[in-house]
Amino acid sequence: MDHFHYLDDRIHCEEVPLDQIAEAVGTPFYCYSAKTLTHHLAVFQQAFAKTTHLICYSVKANSNLAVLDLLARNGAGFDIVSGGELERVRRIGCPGNKIVFSGVGKTREEIRQALRHGILMFNVESRSELYRIDTLAGELGVKAPVALRINPDVDPKTHPHISTGLKRNKFGIPYHNALELYRNAAQLSHIHIMGLDCHIGSQLTTLSPFVDALKRVLTLVSALKREGIHLTHLDLGGGLGIPYDQSRPPPLPDHYAGALLQELDGFDLTLILEPGRVIVGNAGVLVTRVEYIKDNEDKRFIITDAGMNDLMRPALYNAYHGIQPVVRRFGEEETVVDVVGPICESGDFFARDRLLPPFAEGDLLMVRSAGAYGFVMSGNYNTRPRAAEVLVQGNRFTVVRRRETLDELLNHETLLPQGS
Ligand code: LLP
Repeated sequence: MDHFHYLDDRIHCEEVPLDQIAEAVGTPFYCYSAKTLTHHLAVFQQAFAKTTHLICYSVKANSNLAVLDLLARNGAGFDIVSGGELERVRRIGCPGNKIVFSGVGKTREEIRQALRHGILMFNVESRSELYRIDTLAGELGVKAPVALRINPDVDPKTHPHISTGLKRNKFGIPYHNALELYRNAAQLSHIHIMGLDCHIGSQLTTLSPFVDALKRVLTLVSALKREGIHLTHLDLGGGLGIPYDQSRPPPLPDHYAGALLQELDGFDLTLILEPGRVIVGNAGVLVTRVEYIKDNEDKRFIITDAGMNDLMRPALYNAYHGIQPVVRRFGEEETVVDVVGPICESGDFFARDRLLPPFAEGDLLMVRSAGAYGFVMSGNYNTRPRAAEVLVQGNRFTVVRRRETLDELLNHETLLPQGS
């Protein structure tokens, strides 16, 4: 469920018409609905209410400080993957015991930063990382809480770029090496073994890969117990998909939780989940203006002022995003068009051969389901300042990241010294 809907033929985010925001902040901009964000989080929390759990929202999906702050106020903890993300959650005042740190390439400085902040646990991705964390914790005179991220070798049946749980992926510790590495970890004097972590991929639309992965890791949990290694935490990562189109709706959080909890019956573990997309994906849209309409041979192109630098997902994964006119007109026939950006690449598109209502130059259009992996993956290609971000709460909106300026962009660069 989201709060982007037509009212008097204008799309409103909650109670604010998107064209009104466009007038005030210009285009393109991302728009997030606070009500949708908190609703999605509440539904997810509710689904796991029966068990001891911590929802660690995956910061990478949308890391705007206002979004993080809103989620934190509503009880979320955070899954981070860099020192930068740690700094973000520190700035919104998140206590260490609600932070887990994932990622295959943690640097020494990032590990020190996290140890100083007293995070709940590191999700360790390799033997080398485990030993590095032990050494650094020793230097700081602390014990580092860790879970080992296990790669269960399960096919998540999602886009290959966002699958992480197969043994050919770079993520996690191979299933068959897990026991031995836990035994090693138990010998390290600055490591405190907390649990096991497993994340198999993103935008999963069926439950069976989650359940298969869980069964495999629970076998490990039991084997470890027999060896006297008692885990207290089980982190099952994120990955639950969202409906980008209506054709294959993914399972609801309730069903997802039900399937997992059934397997966990009899295990005394605090469950950690790292949802990203399911919380923010459909809570955000990208609003852009039609600059030109161009007919080439047998194709019509709608050229917008947002491009692949603003929303990369179609270019990168051939991802589908729903597109709607911000102001709806009736009585005009739908036509098949390509919606494309201004960037000098043929991969710069938002929709191809899509049947859409007619657009005129100057119209606004809304790209749906852009709250997750939208702004965070945007860049400055073609020297394009990044878009503004706006958060709506009821009948008011706040610019939570103003549009970047060209000065901000160019100030990082210097000319060579005179005479060189
Ligand atoms: N935990 C870990 C360790 C992850 O790597 C990820 C996502 C998540 C949690 C959150 O997964 P989610 O619930 O959002 O599926 N840029 C891609 C998605 C990349 C996902 C990376 N990892 C996209 O636009 O589809």
